[in-house]
Amino acid sequence: MLEVNNLRVSFKIEAKDIAVLKNLSYELEEGDVLALVGESGSGKSVHALAICSLLADNAKVEGSVKLEGKELLKLSPKEMRKVLGRKIAMVFQDPMSSLNPVLTIQSHFVETLKTHFKITKKTALQRAKEALKSVEIDESCLKKYPHQLSGGMRQRVMIALALCLKPQILIADEPTTALDVSVQKQILDLIKNLQKETNTAVLFITHNLAIVQDLAKRVLVLYAGEKMEEAPKEEFFKNPKHPYSRALLNCLISIDKKPKKLNAIEGNPPQSGQVFSGCPFEPRCPNKKAICATKKPVLKEVSKKHFVACHLYKEAEK
Ligand SMILES: Nc1ncnc2c1ncn2[C@@H]1O[C@H](COP(=O)(O)OP(=O)(O)O)[C@@H](O)[C@H]1O
Ligand code: SF4
Ligand SMILES: [Mg+2]
Repeated sequence: MLEVNNLRVSFKIEAKDIAVLKNLSYELEEGDVLALVGESGSGKSVHALAICSLLADNAKVEGSVKLEGKELLKLSPKEMRKVLGRKIAMVFQDPMSSLNPVLTIQSHFVETLKTHFKITKKTALQRAKEALKSVEIDESCLKKYPHQLSGGMRQRVMIALALCLKPQILIADEPTTALDVSVQKQILDLIKNLQKETNTAVLFITHNLAIVQDLAKRVLVLYAGEKMEEAPKEEFFKNPKHPYSRALLNCLISIDKKPKKLNAIEGNPPQSGQVFSGCPFEPRCPNKKAICATKKPVLKEVSKKHFVACHLYKEAEK
């Protein structure tokens, strides 16, 4: 349904082109739940904004993003507005900055629905009530302003707003990061249930692998704007290949096992736009070899649908 091919994003800063996303390719099918993971600054949000043509004017986006075969990167802003919301909806980390503080929740729903469907205000309100019910919020919330709701309720409203248009793809960019842990769980369950009911494809962006374990069907790991590993979820957690994925997994804490020392990945992620002649993870990699500093590893399929960019692995024989 969604095909991303060689997506590259760079920003023009003081006459220099700083590349923050490099040749990212993947596919998303109906009913799929793909988790995009990586530390802060790895290009997760930039990638989502690039798909939706929502990046700042100093951004240059190259490559291809096709939705049902139609190239999105060539659409005019007017054409793109018809796709956004209706076909691809986004839920951001901070619901307060996505909702308009001077409009009631009702106004948000009516405006959103009437922009995309030829319906009366009465029908829009009916759909708004149904959408709120699906996220377990009482319809009395329609008369309220965003500041009168809790953080968890605001995020539920955002999800209801995104899903009331019945999009084919929901992009959720760290939707629970700003919420406390008990509310996080409710929001994740909600996304999981709604996804099952509607078969919407979900692109879930997070730096939290515990969430991925619970929600995703596939995992894609980004580092310094490049794909390091992509695998079905079970395979990823059972048999992670890339040293960076293994380092991320090593930082997970489990309540089932004996408490252990908190782990962190040694060193820092690279500076924005840093150029590498070899593997970008080389400065922090515990498994590096001499070749890693000078030769860039290419992405290889090491087992069925399991791709890794690392010199430690060879392409599986087909
Ligand atoms: N408008 C912008 N101008 C310049 N650099 C940007 C801009 N937006 C994001 N970046 C840089 O792009 C990189 C990736 O950012 P982002 O996608 O937000 O990371 P994350 O994986 O945490 O979501 C970061 O280094 C960030 O500083
Ligand atoms: S290519 Fe080398 S440096 Fe990069 S992750 Fe693999 S072993 Fe480590
Ligand atoms: Mg982000």
